[in-house]
Amino acid sequence: LRPIHRLLSCPGTVAAEARREEQSSGSTETGSEDRAHKTRFSEVQKERREQAQRTILILCPNKISEKKFLKYLSQHGPINNHFFFESFGLYAVVEFCQKESVASLQSVTRTPGTGTEAALPFRSRFFNLKLKNPSNQTSEQSCIPCSNQSPPSSKKLFELLCDAESIDDQLNTLLKEFQLTEENTKLRHLTCSLIEDIAAAYFPDCAVRPFGSSVNGFGKLGCDLDMFLDLDEIGKFSTHKTSGNFLMEFQVKNVPSERIATQKILSVIGECLDHFGPGCVGVQKILNARCPLVRFSHQASGFQCDLTTNNRIALKSSELLYIYGALDSRVRALVFSIRCWARAHSLTSSVPGAWITNFSLTMMVIFFLQTRSPPILPTLDYLKTLADAEDKCIIEGHNCTFIGDLNGIKPSRNTETLELLLKEFFEYFGNFAFNKNSINIRQGREQNKPEPSPLHIQNPFETSLNISKNVSHSQLQKFVDLARESAWILHQEDKAHSSPPSNQPWGLAALLLPSVAKNMSHAKKKRKKPASERIKNLLESIKSSSTENSTNTNGK
Ligand code: GTP
Ligand code: MG
Repeated sequence: LRPIHRLLSCPGTVAAEARREEQSSGSTETGSEDRAHKTRFSEVQKERREQAQRTILILCPNKISEKKFLKYLSQHGPINNHFFFESFGLYAVVEFCQKESVASLQSVTRTPGTGTEAALPFRSRFFNLKLKNPSNQTSEQSCIPCSNQSPPSSKKLFELLCDAESIDDQLNTLLKEFQLTEENTKLRHLTCSLIEDIAAAYFPDCAVRPFGSSVNGFGKLGCDLDMFLDLDEIGKFSTHKTSGNFLMEFQVKNVPSERIATQKILSVIGECLDHFGPGCVGVQKILNARCPLVRFSHQASGFQCDLTTNNRIALKSSELLYIYGALDSRVRALVFSIRCWARAHSLTSSVPGAWITNFSLTMMVIFFLQTRSPPILPTLDYLKTLADAEDKCIIEGHNCTFIGDLNGIKPSRNTETLELLLKEFFEYFGNFAFNKNSINIRQGREQNKPEPSPLHIQNPFETSLNISKNVSHSQLQKFVDLARESAWILHQEDKAHSSPPSNQPWGLAALLLPSVAKNMSHAKKKRKKPASERIKNLLESIKSSSTENSTNTNGK
């Protein structure tokens, strides 16, 4: 007998299709093969949101029979899919086929009363399942399969990387292990949807949308969940209703500036999450930041959440990155490895400061791929020329227009391997004239720096801004030193030609070892400056001799 939920399964969906495309893309060497129909970002997001609205989260007792559980829930309507995961308890995510099933379930649930604690009644989609007769359930308790929501341990990662067949294989393996799974993606959208229910108590018709690495294709398991409260839909309702004799306007309270409005909205939502949000803990209101936000942990899902408001440009950046990541399968593999490399050497950090951010690193990889010959990725200006009327987008006076239909962009003819690209990335940025040039994905070529920050990466939409303004001189120098060192390691391995002993980390695994950084800072202490200069010169000499021999490392 097949489980009941599978018999009742709904037809294939846009999001599922996009997911299949995403997951299949890690396996191919170049990007041109896997270009079946690709789904628009906005379509994927719309469908994910709709899916999340008919999904519930349940804290289950540890001893539970999956079969009985599903049978019980399906009294309220057919179930499309479900999974279990562990996070301070056993949780289930259950997606019904219809939204009405959620209301039906809500109508038969009761607000818990413990006698000792007072409960604030709140009609949420986060349930707590209590069994009337737990002993009935024990027979199947041990076979509940739990979906994994965490990245692999460093030990496991090293084993996998050392067992890989080639450096290309290593980069694809790292991508496969770290990328968000279908279940984790669902859980992220569900968490936003649960927060939306809370915000809707104040702002009916609002939307809470995920952005950043949860949706741009570059998220790794364990990354934070960026979300923003979208109040634009509310405005739209009022603008359409202009016919008839009566003109109704929303009553608004005016405040001196947009920033103050944002702070007031976030302040009230922050209070609401803190007081009434089931499972929302550690709520911090960070309202004086450049971009005010509310930070909290969603205990059940385990996500660290950052909630902002009216962040449409950031959503557009997420769409742009999604497009770049989906255009060629090498992009995500390279970005994941570079991010992982940067994290391993403490170039990035989870606390804000003078470090490079993951967002900046992604921009650097995109820029680098635009400079290859032939280019692997098109420039943003080119994507703008491909846009049609539907793609036109101006946000707060900034032109954010680019083509949204991935199928309208020609694949690259470049066939360079990931191994070559990784090496060349390190060389390119190991030698980049950061003192005078700026990185600009709009034009895909180096520009003169408009201001003296050590690292200048132009914000693709607010073009007068630098997304890496925070990066200090010493952090940039550390990045350059490590890039040179890593290029050097890869060149040395190339020269050795023999395969390393199987117990020795090689290729990408060797680059992720913290000892690289340690050795370097040690060397630096001894000789103050020259280690990286020496490596730069050595690299140059290797390069010139390899050009003389005109060896072609392409298309292995
Ligand atoms: P993770 O490190 O995996 O969380 O990557 P992320 O891309 O989600 O980065 P983060 O959480 O720091 O920021 C979320 C989103 O905000 C990014 O994807 C960008 O769209 C946007 N963002 C982050 N930093 C900047 C910045 O300095 N300038 C601008 N304009 N946008 C930024
Ligand atoms: Mg993030």
